[in-house]
Amino acid sequence: MTKAPVTVTVTGAAGQIGYALLFRIASGQLIGPDTPIKLRLLEIPQGLKAAEGTAMELDDCAFPLLQSIDITDDARTAFDGTNVGLLVGARPRGQGMERGDLLEANGGIFKPQGEAINAGAADDVRVLVVGNPANTNALIAQAHAPDVPAERFTAMTRLDHNRAQTQVAKKLGVTVNDVKKLTIWGNHSATQYPDLFHAEVGGKIAAEQVEQSWLADEFIPTVAKRGAAIIEARGASSAASAANAAIDHVHTWVNGTPEGDWTSAGIPSDGSYGVPEGLISSFPVTAKDGKFEIVQGLEIDEFSRERIDASVAELVEERDTVRKLGLV
Ligand code: NAD
Ligand code: LMR
Repeated sequence: MTKAPVTVTVTGAAGQIGYALLFRIASGQLIGPDTPIKLRLLEIPQGLKAAEGTAMELDDCAFPLLQSIDITDDARTAFDGTNVGLLVGARPRGQGMERGDLLEANGGIFKPQGEAINAGAADDVRVLVVGNPANTNALIAQAHAPDVPAERFTAMTRLDHNRAQTQVAKKLGVTVNDVKKLTIWGNHSATQYPDLFHAEVGGKIAAEQVEQSWLADEFIPTVAKRGAAIIEARGASSAASAANAAIDHVHTWVNGTPEGDWTSAGIPSDGSYGVPEGLISSFPVTAKDGKFEIVQGLEIDEFSRERIDASVAELVEERDTVRKLGLV
């Protein structure tokens, strides 16, 4: 075991996603099987006792890679020297609530966390925001961390990506490994656009292998509204699949995308594909040398353009709302 330990801070550690996430981080699935992990768990005071219980269970797993667990309700302490920040803690959407309803409540959480990251995180810090509305929460945190390169703040759309991959695999009777170059564009919300016009199955464009009616009337709404469907069925928002997607996102960011494929992540726009610069929007991305890069040069037809624009318009609206609240 020669690699330097990586400090991982998880906010909302005592929540549902936290419980599904921490054991996988500690077992080496976030970074890799030979990187020791130091865990920092951030909770609100009411969550500390439950976090302590989870820490007892982590101890009881005797994970060879897990070097330490610190629990705190102080953001500065939690992010001091952190290499990976998983910003999960937020108020989950209940039945009938739209993500926009959460902006004000959650905005207050991500400002102090951004400030704490700015103040003390490691130089190579990478931040993934999971707590909803994830894209705009990431924007808030980033706005309060002016000394951290903007591209280190990302928002999770990997869950949507994974959901889309499975829907296509099931439809075409193939495995998820056969579905490549899928893209989630825009916001992690019901306006997101899962794009099959560049996705490939068996080396051929996926959109050409399915009926247009399935694509427009079944596939897109199923993926875009999957979060609400899970809340409806479980009475609670997705947790294990969300934790899995967070693991995938960071693992890909650190270890890279395979040759001939890409993934989806919410990253700060550089103006590509007409997405206003600075918005944290989902794009087709590759990862190499620890950096995400937007896949360039894709042709966007009218069908896709309309849907990308609608989701980006929602992101602009969310940004304008948090601007008015003085959060960015
Ligand atoms: P949960 O209610 O089970 O847990 C949230 C935890 O966060 C609680 O333990 C709470 O005490 C804690 N918390 C609240 N404010 C905090 C703060 N300021 N600092 C530290 N901890 C704080 O919720 P959950 O099911 O784990 O979901 C967490 C978030 O993830 C929600 O916003 C949910 O909507 C979102 N989510 C996002 C995706 C995605 O794909 N981006 C998927 C699923 C869920
Ligand atoms: C999800 O996509 O499952 C989460 O973002 C929960 C939600 O509110 O939809």
